[in-house]
Amino acid sequence: MKQFNNIVVANWKMQLSVAEAKELAKSIKELINQNHIDSKIEIVVCPDFVDLTEVAKIFKDTRIALGAQDGHYEDVGQFTGEISIKELKDLGCEYVILGHSERRALGETDGMVNKKVKTALKHNLTPILCVGETFEERKEGNKGIVIMHEVYEGLKDVTLKKGQRIIIAYEPVWVIGSGQAINAAEATDTASLIRQSYVDALNGQHLSALSIIYGGSVDPSNIRQFTSLNNIKGALVGGASLKSNTFVEIIKNI
Ligand code: PGA
Repeated sequence: MKQFNNIVVANWKMQLSVAEAKELAKSIKELINQNHIDSKIEIVVCPDFVDLTEVAKIFKDTRIALGAQDGHYEDVGQFTGEISIKELKDLGCEYVILGHSERRALGETDGMVNKKVKTALKHNLTPILCVGETFEERKEGNKGIVIMHEVYEGLKDVTLKKGQRIIIAYEPVWVIGSGQAINAAEATDTASLIRQSYVDALNGQHLSALSIIYGGSVDPSNIRQFTSLNNIKGALVGGASLKSNTFVEIIKNI
């Protein structure tokens, strides 16, 4: 099986002004240049929509790739307040986070996520599909079914062209922003479940295109417990990506 390198994705959410985003981007760029970081590690930063243009300028000609936090599946149309995945591509995004739990909480369905995954692939962006159970779902013993469902429905009828990839982020919703990540045993078991659901959704094809990453209170002290697992290839980082030192420390500690 082909193994991708580790990937670290920063999700800045709606936490920064344009000025703060520029500042943070510059500082990350500097620290990445100063530190010796394995050149094979993929680094992706996902600012909010209005910060994208400025941050793209700062990361131009660096090893840091740009991603978006969401995108609409239609290319154009009467969708007030939305931004198309096509536009994100034009702005220089190579990745797009889709189906984050904070968007699902606002009403995003598996059907919408599925359309977005297909549109991302149509425009050659790598989708970062987020899946994960809430505390309620877990308490009721439904974690497995929720995750299988989100992977299966999110990837229904998806086909990949040569060289395209899918990243699936396992993010237990109850752990996001809590400061307390899950343990390695649970992360690796869940990654196996995600892998099987991916195989089922894609009829056993494109297995080598899949990378599974972990998200939920990742910090410099716990990153290694996830990336040392053979079925987890990196992390989606929220809070700890908002300080350049901490974010770069995570990357160094992989
Ligand atoms: P966190 O967020 O690292 O702050 O827990 C992760 C995410 O929501 O993607």
